[in-house]
Amino acid sequence: MAAAGSAVGLGNIWRFPYSAGQNGGGAFVIVYLFFVAVIGFSVMLTEFAVGRRKSLAAVGAFKTVDRRWTFAGVLGVLSGFLIMGFYPVVGGWALAYIVKAPGLIANPATIGDTFGAFISNPVQPLIWMVAFLLLNVVIVARGVSAGIEAAGKVLMPLLFGILILIAVRGLMLPGAMAGMSFLFTPDFSKINGTVVLAALGQAFFSLSLGMGCMITYGSYLNKEENLIENAAIVTAMDTGVALLAGIAMFPAMFAFGMEPAAGPGLVFVVVPTIFAEMGGMGSFFGVLFFVALTVAALTSSVSLLEVCVAYLIDEKGMDRKMAVLSTSGVMAVLCVLASLSIGGVGPTLFDKGAFDIFDLLTDKVFLAIGGMLLCIFAGWRLNKDELKAEITNEGKIAFGMFELWYNLVKYVIPVTVALVAFSGIQSGFEGGSGPIMILGIVIIEYLD
Ligand code: PHE
Repeated sequence: MAAAGSAVGLGNIWRFPYSAGQNGGGAFVIVYLFFVAVIGFSVMLTEFAVGRRKSLAAVGAFKTVDRRWTFAGVLGVLSGFLIMGFYPVVGGWALAYIVKAPGLIANPATIGDTFGAFISNPVQPLIWMVAFLLLNVVIVARGVSAGIEAAGKVLMPLLFGILILIAVRGLMLPGAMAGMSFLFTPDFSKINGTVVLAALGQAFFSLSLGMGCMITYGSYLNKEENLIENAAIVTAMDTGVALLAGIAMFPAMFAFGMEPAAGPGLVFVVVPTIFAEMGGMGSFFGVLFFVALTVAALTSSVSLLEVCVAYLIDEKGMDRKMAVLSTSGVMAVLCVLASLSIGGVGPTLFDKGAFDIFDLLTDKVFLAIGGMLLCIFAGWRLNKDELKAEITNEGKIAFGMFELWYNLVKYVIPVTVALVAFSGIQSGFEGGSGPIMILGIVIIEYLD
């Protein structure tokens, strides 16, 4: 449940719909589903297996096997920092919308402008971001992640229920079917390097892979748990929520005549608009939706913060409070830069502001490369029999597809990730990102 809590978050409900919208709809969705099934599931199983075998969090798991591999774990920690350099900004938006939703739903004409004005305001979103980050700090400093996971157990099904409600409402609107066909009828001519890289990045981001999070959770699993089943359930739940979020957004958007490539504001504009259509109860469900979204974001962000904190505690000997305060302090600074960059304030690199840079670096570079490194590590550095023993619980459970999984991890995934990264650079997704990718590779070399 904790792993599912980490996986299901803003990635599914905020990011998946707008990435699909910006990358051609059905073409993106089909490539994404393919990557989730073949690469995502395999990498998750690998993370669980490595974590449980070594009984250590990300950095330690690499380090005990071979000190030269420490950099792969450290890269994951770096990814955690950078994701936490923008994730709390969006978490803050969700938090703010708990308060703002009723007013917007009562006044639907203002929804679009309000969102744009809110996120580009220099002060307001910062306050909400800090509030969101503080919730993380309190949870992780007290080591009470169990509490937030308990809240998640109630609120996740609730979120799922509200998404179904939104989807049903949206599908009943005239013209809604165009949204379904946008999402599920792939136009294969739209598949190019940019779309493929976006889909791969989305798969890693949404499943919380490539940065050691699932290695850490794997290390908590007891020896009786079935890793294959766990990986399959988490993958299926995460993907189910993403698709449902897509079904909740697109039919309504098409019915309202909105632009599918609307970008990061999509969920914050579409959801209140749908609830405004619902009349009396709309405001109540709107608030409930943003409460559930905030909790889903929290169960993800605490897992990110925990990876960074665990690193400082385990490897640098810091005490928990100090580790939480120093990491979240750095994250707060990154988040201020990210939030201000939306209003056009602050430094830019290749024409991109801090928000976009942190997002691109992690989602399109670090996570996929982290996943690739883990596969190389498992396939070429770890012992095959040891992996088999771990995944089959010392031979107690059957895994007919072991050879297939092993070959995917050892050969297919590393080569695929490299090719996708390369073709992404080639098609120069949104200009300037190629150099960012190269910068990522240079940093990795340096850490090595
Ligand atoms: N999977 C989370 C989400 O979809 C984000 C995340 C990425 C969490 C990487 C942990 C590690 O919102």
